Amino acid sequence: KSHIRPPLKNVRGVPLKEPIAKNFESVWDFCPDPTDILIATYPKAGTTWTQEIVDLLLHNGDTEACKRSSIVVRSPFLEISNPSPIPSGLDLLCKMSPPRIIKTHLPIQLVPEGFWENKCKVIYVARNAKDSLVSYYHFDRMNVTQCEPGSWENYIQKFMKGELSWGSWYDHVNGYWRERENRNILYLFYEDMKENLQREVERIKQHLDLSVTDDVIAHIAEKTSFEVMKENPMVNYTFRPFLDQSISPFMRKGEVGDWVNHFSASQLEIFDEHYEQQMKMSNIPFRTNL
Ligand code: PPS
Repeated sequence: KSHIRPPLKNVRGVPLKEPIAKNFESVWDFCPDPTDILIATYPKAGTTWTQEIVDLLLHNGDTEACKRSSIVVRSPFLEISNPSPIPSGLDLLCKMSPPRIIKTHLPIQLVPEGFWENKCKVIYVARNAKDSLVSYYHFDRMNVTQCEPGSWENYIQKFMKGELSWGSWYDHVNGYWRERENRNILYLFYEDMKENLQREVERIKQHLDLSVTDDVIAHIAEKTSFEVMKENPMVNYTFRPFLDQSISPFMRKGEVGDWVNHFSASQLEIFDEHYEQQMKMSNIPFRTNL
């Protein structure tokens, strides 16, 4: 039961959950295959969505093939380590043959060097800060393997200080942004995916050098809409007893701009001022920090 509400430990300046921190050196030594695909995100940016899209692309849109097992098995979570209610990433990966679709929330400086040395294809998904924060808050309420979220007011403070698990959102999105051209990173935005999913699936296809027809791309976009994925037990995490979906469903709202329902006027003022400070040197084209 030691995975329940574990404390955070500092790993090279980044707060990580204790089991991850303890096993971090073996994650750091992981050596991927050059054909492996890494999906990197700050938590709640659209990871599961992108994992499902990539698996469908690799299976030419075959939805039945992509129901062979749950997303946590089809696309291992690199740094998840025992004790954990989901299988350890490294244990799963060593039993799979490449190309593997690997999920990580690690900030760029903690991603194992092998990914860069082997020039693996990397997809980063960024979501605007306020929606990420709202989604993360509800996730921490319903997921007993995450730290206790505390009050909403307090949670905003922790987000701004970079004290949540996996660290600072600001450093995370900027770290990958700065390196995107040097390191073969396709940098996507959740908001763009919501606006025109077919267009973004096409960009992923191009980045992965796959030959998939336009019809199949359209089919994949249809099968990865929020409404479809919410009902798909292989991606909606209903199979995970450590997630209490009666508190908040994993597939919660899937919208852009739900933050307006959470921030008070004074919280917004403080958050926006801090955001300006943190992001003033950044030229990431977020459309919504509005
Ligand atoms: S995790 O736990 O970090 O891997 O979570 P992650 O998958 O990154 O993010 C979960 C949020 O993404 C929303 N989601 C989607 N939005 C739109 N379309 C699709 N298909 C989709 N699938 C997942 C999910 O609802 C979470 O966001 P919120 O705002 O909480 O609803």
